[in-house]
Parts: sequence; C-alpha cells; structure tokens
Amino acid sequence: MGYSFSPGITLFTDNYYMKYKHVSVLKNEVINYLDPKNNENCIDCTLGGGGHAKAILEKTAPNGNLLGIDLDINAIKAAKQNLKDYKNRIYLVEDNYKNLKQILKQKKYDSGFNKIDIILLDLGISSYEMQDKTRGFSFQGSADLDMRFGQTDLKASDIINNYSENELTRVFKEYGEERYSRLIAREIIKQRKIKPILKTDQLVGLIENVYKNKQKPKKIHVATKVFQGLRIETNDELNNLTKFLPEALEILNKGGRLGIISFHSLEDRIVKRFFKQESKDCLCPPQLPICQCNHQAQLKILTKKPVEAGVEEIKNNPRSRSAKLRAAEKI
Ligand SMILES: C[S@@+](CC[C@H](N)C(=O)[O-])C[C@H]1O[C@@H](n2cnc3c(N)ncnc32)[C@H](O)[C@@H]1O
Repeated sequence: MGYSFSPGITLFTDNYYMKYKHVSVLKNEVINYLDPKNNENCIDCTLGGGGHAKAILEKTAPNGNLLGIDLDINAIKAAKQNLKDYKNRIYLVEDNYKNLKQILKQKKYDSGFNKIDIILLDLGISSYEMQDKTRGFSFQGSADLDMRFGQTDLKASDIINNYSENELTRVFKEYGEERYSRLIAREIIKQRKIKPILKTDQLVGLIENVYKNKQKPKKIHVATKVFQGLRIETNDELNNLTKFLPEALEILNKGGRLGIISFHSLEDRIVKRFFKQESKDCLCPPQLPICQCNHQAQLKILTKKPVEAGVEEIKNNPRSRSAKLRAAEKI
C-alpha cells in the first residue's frame, strides 16, 4: 500500500489504484449540533475518509475515543491514514452500521467505550465510491453491475436479472422516483431473456433506449434515478437505517447527541418520524382519555427543521445540495 501527499489518499489494490477523495458535508453544522467536548467518546457509523471523524477528534482531545465503522475496506484504509495523528484514540471496524449494538459489545471495545456521547451517521455514498469505475455505482464507463458497499451477498446484477417486473418497477419508482419505472422494468425483462444484463453500460444503453422519444430530465443523466434506486435496494439502505435508530438511542449516554445526515426523502422521513416519536411522552391515539402506552420521551430534538447546506457549500461541493442533518439529544 502507498500514499500520496497531494489532496486525497492514494489506495493501491492489486493492479489498480485511485485517490480517496471525499469532501464531508455540513461539517461545521455537525460540530455545532453534536457539540463534541474534551474526552467525550464518539461512534462514526459511516466513517468514509474520516473527514467528520477528524473534526470530532480535534474537539474530544486528549482522551476521547472514536469508533469508526464502514462497510468499505478502502474507506477504512483511507481513514486510518487520514487519522494517523489520533491513532491511540481510534478503533476502526469493517462492518455494517446496522450491527451497531453487536459491534460495540465486542469485548475489545469495552474499556474505551463504556459511555457513548456522540453518534454520527452520514448516509449514502462517498465521492470515492461513486468515481471508482470498478464498483458499478457510476453510469459512466463499463463496469460490473455490483454496487455493494462491502462484502454483502446481493449484487445489483442479481436484482436486474432476477426481480419480477413489479419488483423492478417498485425499486425504480420508490427509491429512484423514476418516471418511466414500468417501461424500464419491461425493457429489462425483454433484454435479459436475450442476454443477461451484467454491465453498467448495458443497463445505461437500455434506459437511453426507453428515453429515446421521451422528454429527458433537465439536469441529470437519464440513468441517474434508476442507478440510485438500484443502489438503495442492493444495500438495503432503508432497512439498515430503521434497524439502526433504536440501537443508537439505546447505547447513547444521557445527554449524548445523535446526528444523521440523509440524502434521500425516504431516509429523512424515517429519521424525522423516529425523532418525533421518541421525543413524545405518550403515543396513545388522541381519543384515549388516559395514557395506556406508558411511553416516555427519550430524545430532545435539536433541529426543528433539517439543517441544509448554504449557498457557498453547495457551490464548492454540489453533493451537499440534497443533504439534510437532523440532530437530537438523549434525555
Ligand atoms: C457519505 S460517506 C461518509 C463520509 C464521511 N462522513 C467523511 O466525512 O468522510 C458514506 C460512507 O458510508 C459507508 N456505508 C454505506 N452504507 C453502510 C453501512 N450499511 N454500514 C457501514 N458503512 C456504510 C460507505 O461505504 C461510505 O464510505
């Protein structure tokens, strides 16, 4: 393995290398709302290149520990290099953040992480993963239709070649908000009978065909939405988030802060609903005169509305355009 000194970290894997580049979104806002203090412990559940983690570690000196989780081994390698000045205070794990409680239980973290003050989840994909032409996230070039963040079982090509017309339509419509979901699903079924669809450019060509005599979206490539839907399904992204939220709340220390950055309206809705529910003392239907659920509020919402990037950040990092940060404190 080798590293470069130009911006970004160069990762070598077999005969292939590329720079790990990713600009963290809403970094100042994350620090502002999660308010890391000296000696506090943090879990960064989607470590990426460690951009947010570094900003947090600077604030939690001298003894605050950080547990960093990512499914992508290249992210872990890049973060290890990026955070080398903090090596005595970091623990990096290649795993799925949906296994948060189980990861934390592992004996080796017991001493450093008996109380968790900050949990951060920055959802979605890094620029590094998007630009890596071997991973299948990008509709440019030709790569295997993989789209996995880590070593999970289901690949995008399994979905494309095995899902029914209805299932494909649901994925493109719900997760991609693709206008021609049904037509694209039908075209996939037709084409895969002739030859399996295994490469990104095969799928892009097929989508372009469907769009041939149709009005194209204005600012994005015609394949953007289908690729987004496919990525979300491949990585089971919404179910991961749903499983994660109660676990994060459970392990957080009283007074601890939870911050979640999402890039998709369905993700944001899941977070919004969870925060709302956990910030209420009673969840009984309004017609019940006396509370029967005994539910007690565990969260104080810190962001009434989701926090979004300002004009300057969007100009410098267009990816931040759709980012929404919600934060809450455990009470
Ligand atoms: C937007 S990037 C995070 C960037 C990071 N906050 C930074 O400042 O560099 C999202 C990261 O989450 C990882 N990821 C996506 N789904 C995951 C999952 N279920 N479990 C663990 N990591 C995941 C991706 O591999 C990617 O590295």
